[in-house]
Amino acid sequence: MNKFKDILPKELAMDPFDGFRNWAMITAEVDGVHNSMIIGWGGLGVLWRKDVATVYVRENRYTYEFIEKADKFTISFYDEKYKEQLKVYGTKSGKDIDKDFVTNFHPIKINDAVTYEEAHTTIVCKKIYQAKLEPQFYLNDVADQFYGINNDLTRHHMYIGEIERIVKK
Ligand SMILES: Cc1cc2nc3c(=O)[nH]c(=O)nc-3n(C[C@H](O)[C@H](O)[C@H](O)COP(=O)(O)O)c2cc1C
Repeated sequence: MNKFKDILPKELAMDPFDGFRNWAMITAEVDGVHNSMIIGWGGLGVLWRKDVATVYVRENRYTYEFIEKADKFTISFYDEKYKEQLKVYGTKSGKDIDKDFVTNFHPIKINDAVTYEEAHTTIVCKKIYQAKLEPQFYLNDVADQFYGINNDLTRHHMYIGEIERIVKK
């Protein structure tokens, strides 16, 4: 934990487009148990005069059960050398395996939320808004490929978190 230092959101010298495209991790904890998965969709910005981060979690992810109940979540970013471990977080479910054990990643707590020692940057967020992405609000057919033309596949939920803290190695 000592190797992390706090930075301000405006000091985050990282392109968020690259950050999410090169895979980020989301972690949420409930009653002392956490689950993590890879996210490729997300954003950083400003809402209601607050610095915020937005993530999208599909209902069939095990992580959904955690982020629904948790007050906070973390978004963490990793160096390329961890790609193999990150694949485990992005292809296996915490329902089936202990991903931290398999990858030998080391969870640590910051601000009552969980991230990993291996992360080069972690954003701690407090949930301030959440919404299911409902089919009647899609403005084009881009969503068909994700939810089926009959809209019969599970949906994503959007979570907007106020950025409470950013730590960086
Ligand atoms: C590159 C990549 C990006 C992903 N982005 C997302 C995402 O933004 N939202 C989402 O719900 N799932 C996303 N996933 C899928 C989850 O990471 C994956 O289904 C994971 O195994 C879920 O784990 P869980 O069941 O333990 O929650 C992504 C997977 C990969 C490999």
